[in-house]
Amino acid sequence: MEKLSGKKNTAVLISGRGSNLKSLIKYSKTKKALITIVLVVSDNTIAKGLNYANKSNINNIFIKYSNRKSFEDRLLKLLKRSNVDLICLAGFMKILSSRFIKKFNRTILNIHPSLLPKYKGLNTHDRAIQNKDKYSGATVHIVTDKLDSGKIILQKKVKILKSDTVKSLEKKILKIEHKIYTKAIIKLLASD
Ligand code: GAR
Repeated sequence: MEKLSGKKNTAVLISGRGSNLKSLIKYSKTKKALITIVLVVSDNTIAKGLNYANKSNINNIFIKYSNRKSFEDRLLKLLKRSNVDLICLAGFMKILSSRFIKKFNRTILNIHPSLLPKYKGLNTHDRAIQNKDKYSGATVHIVTDKLDSGKIILQKKVKILKSDTVKSLEKKILKIEHKIYTKAIIKLLASD
């Protein structure tokens, strides 16, 4: 795919289903997109998300996570080779080291299914329901070496209904995730 001037070469890191990757690919194919997805990396060989990259002819690779250093060193080489300006974590379930973040030295974004700083980590929907929260939502933020921390770029909330289950809340929030990830990218890059 030809890179239009001004578009940021983007790598998307996934570990599984890849619905956020799918929506980022859809966005990247729109006329006014500010990103070109040049690389998809998964730490899980059977990640469903890899199929979306294949279908769109996007260079994609599985990197075995034997240990953090070897994974990150391999990843850094690939990022350099593809001239990557921006990384989007999309359901990538590993924490990147401060060494990696410093070496990459460009923006890394993450999407998380809660209203951060509430409910970092796993089982966010269950925790929100158990705590009888009135709202939950999704957050796009800059990645640091601390779990689900870093400057918030965009956040959107949804109401938790009495009838909501973990599954129904997940579904509602995922819908929001797909909208706010591209919005956050635009917010971040439009000012560049
Ligand atoms: C999404 O809900 C994403 O926010 C979450 O994993 C899911 C991946 O779904 N990420 C995290 O929890 C990161 N801490 P997807 O593979 O269909 O995009």
